[in-house]
Amino acid sequence: MGKVQGLKCPKCARSYPVEIKEPRCAECHATLEVEVDLSGLKREGPDLFLRREDRSIWRWREFLSIEKEEAIVTLGEGGTPLLPAGRLRQEVRGADLYLKNDTLLPTGSLKDRSNAVGISRAVEEGQDVVAVASTGNAASSVAAYAARAGLQSVVFVPEATAPEKVVQAASYGARIVRVQADYDGTAHLYGQALKSFGWYNCLSSNPFRNEGKKSYAYEIWTDLDGQVPDWVIHPTAGGTGPAACWKGFNELYRLGWIDRLPRIVVVQAAACAPIVESFQAGRDEILPVEPRQTIAESIRVGGPSTMAWRALQAARDSGGMAVALSEVEIERSQSLLARKAGIFAEPAGAISLGAAIRLAQDGLIHPGHVVVAVITGHGLKQPPSDLTLPIAIPPDLTSLGKALQVS
Ligand SMILES: Cc1ncc(COP(=O)(O)O)c(C=O)c1O
Repeated sequence: MGKVQGLKCPKCARSYPVEIKEPRCAECHATLEVEVDLSGLKREGPDLFLRREDRSIWRWREFLSIEKEEAIVTLGEGGTPLLPAGRLRQEVRGADLYLKNDTLLPTGSLKDRSNAVGISRAVEEGQDVVAVASTGNAASSVAAYAARAGLQSVVFVPEATAPEKVVQAASYGARIVRVQADYDGTAHLYGQALKSFGWYNCLSSNPFRNEGKKSYAYEIWTDLDGQVPDWVIHPTAGGTGPAACWKGFNELYRLGWIDRLPRIVVVQAAACAPIVESFQAGRDEILPVEPRQTIAESIRVGGPSTMAWRALQAARDSGGMAVALSEVEIERSQSLLARKAGIFAEPAGAISLGAAIRLAQDGLIHPGHVVVAVITGHGLKQPPSDLTLPIAIPPDLTSLGKALQVS
């Protein structure tokens, strides 16, 4: 299991004890990071992990911020396929594109990587009620893991959240709070509620849950047989995915198990792209934006958390990029993924493909580059609204012929 050394501010390196109530730096207000002691792993080498048959994120348990094995709450998350995207190769001008299919996680989105760890930590701490504010995917993920652990969950979602996501969270027994606001307004109310009710917080301001997404790095590295990709592209709202992925690769690098690092790409919808705007403007801080409408509703977060600068930094430090996609590009990504790769993703979950296409068009991704696009949310969570069902036909061949227009 992991050995938690303490909490550390990633900005000013100030150390804090694990027990502090608000895991924020008193000086620079950044969300703190968990420091897991990895010194023993240098001696062990990667074989310790490669030998294990477990393909879930817990294969990598020494890297994760959970110390008691009996506290682990798992639905078998992790080990999702890394699929070569053969029929999409032309779209990315001959790059070796791989799709990391996280739509296959237990609740259908990337959020299970973090919540498996976050809820396990809640069990370690003896918490009873866990809570989150969400554009929908974290809500159902927290609700599922809470159900598994026997905890009560309370989830806050914006009124406009796709009903599929809300129904999913409700099915796991969550207490649902629908708020007449967008995500930012919902998160504001949630922050006040958290202070009043003292629930266990499952947002990205909880450093323990953020460690779960480091598992991307370990899985991509092993699935590529020890190769490090040139690019890893991640749909981004709060920023945990790209930041944790970068942290995971850096851990492998410091252990001496890899000899270079990938470039990290943050991708957002142009309608709501605060991190991309800061990247392009060369700013260090992220200024909130007023979100416009976008079909990528899961990443429609105008004022991202104090974690988001880590994603910005990951893109910069790695020599990567930050890309904002138009609505047309987002729709096309979703459609291409389904029709040419057999992966049905929600719009926000599909945009890493659109970013790969854009970067290839711009000449940044070259033929032969190894590119991993993380696909982060299942299409059934927010099905395309423009696809209508065909009219049902009587059960005879004449009607079938007419319907297929081959009479
Ligand atoms: C489908 C999907 N992809 C990506 C993200 C972005 O994740 P993060 O908040 O870690 O940036 C979200 C967040 O809700 C999501 O639901």
